[in-house]
Amino acid sequence: MSDSSTMLDAVAYVAEAQAVLEAATSLLSIDDVESNFLGKKSGLALAHRTLGQLDPEQRKTYGAVLYGIRQELEGLIAGRREVVAEIERSAALKADQLDLTEVIPGLVSTVVRRGHQHLISQTQAELEDVFVGMGFTVADGPEVETDWFNFEALNIPPAHPARGMWDTFYLELGDPETVVLRTHTSPVQIHLMEEAVAQNALPIHAVMPGRCFRRDTPDARHLHTFHQIEGLVIDEAIAFTDLAGVIQTFTTAYFGPDISSRLRPAFFPFTEPSAEFEITCTICHGGGCRTCSQTGWIELGGCGMVDPAVLSAVGIDPERYQGFAFGFGIDRCAQMRHQIADMRALVENDLRFIEQF
Ligand code: DAH
Repeated sequence: MSDSSTMLDAVAYVAEAQAVLEAATSLLSIDDVESNFLGKKSGLALAHRTLGQLDPEQRKTYGAVLYGIRQELEGLIAGRREVVAEIERSAALKADQLDLTEVIPGLVSTVVRRGHQHLISQTQAELEDVFVGMGFTVADGPEVETDWFNFEALNIPPAHPARGMWDTFYLELGDPETVVLRTHTSPVQIHLMEEAVAQNALPIHAVMPGRCFRRDTPDARHLHTFHQIEGLVIDEAIAFTDLAGVIQTFTTAYFGPDISSRLRPAFFPFTEPSAEFEITCTICHGGGCRTCSQTGWIELGGCGMVDPAVLSAVGIDPERYQGFAFGFGIDRCAQMRHQIADMRALVENDLRFIEQF
């Protein structure tokens, strides 16, 4: 027989369990609460063991009380588990979060260094500015040309010995027309003249910058892929002095007044008369060095009065219109303006060089 004083106080037992549960903030400590209050050694289990000593009536009532306690505690524990599981999950998520704005010393530099245009692009833009300032417009044309644009319309028929002036990359695309990587920007002259004729939009005062290709072995002054800027003026009453004036104005505007330029007679199939223009070598200031092959002069490009045969090829009346043209290397200009002894430095992507300009 057991008296009621040794019986479990259901209200107190549940209240105690509830208080401990509320203080439990991890799933593991809830497991402890569960075993302490519902496990084999818990007060509840001990109370169960006394049931056998009770008479049937008491056993039934007390049994029901103990069962009620178990039910209630199981419900409380399950509820607390849900809450704590949720807290643990969000804490874990938070711990896993990656703060991309955080600066980790040694891993991310706090100084973001800005890039800039390549020296060739800068030079092209500056040259365009000089010519736009003189009243020229800027146009461009395709890098892949048919033989007709690159040679024939420029008064260089097939098998003409002048073709030897350009070591050409031919694209084997078969008939009907040979296709080449343009060897100079002069074919853009033909495109502009054809458009102007079609749209009845003469005169033309334009410069045409762009990339060109030649089967050249790179050296201090040559690249196989390089840039030229072409100039074309087609108008009425144009004379060679207009051409000379433009070359002179451009040279002093771009290289400065202490650099002189000179024109030397030359031959180009698309101009008559033709000239080569040269400037004082800026590396040695005329004294002679490796870059200018000891001459003191650097050839920038060619120029001349547009050959009437070229005007006729595109349907312009040579009796009414004349013009001049010129074409020179943008890379060569960059080299001379910034005194770069070897042009290959422009394309070798050496950071020490790139960061300098
Ligand atoms: N296209 C020539 C070359 O690359 C350069 C040139 C010469 C362009 C005379 C011209 C010109 O417009 O009139 O060798």
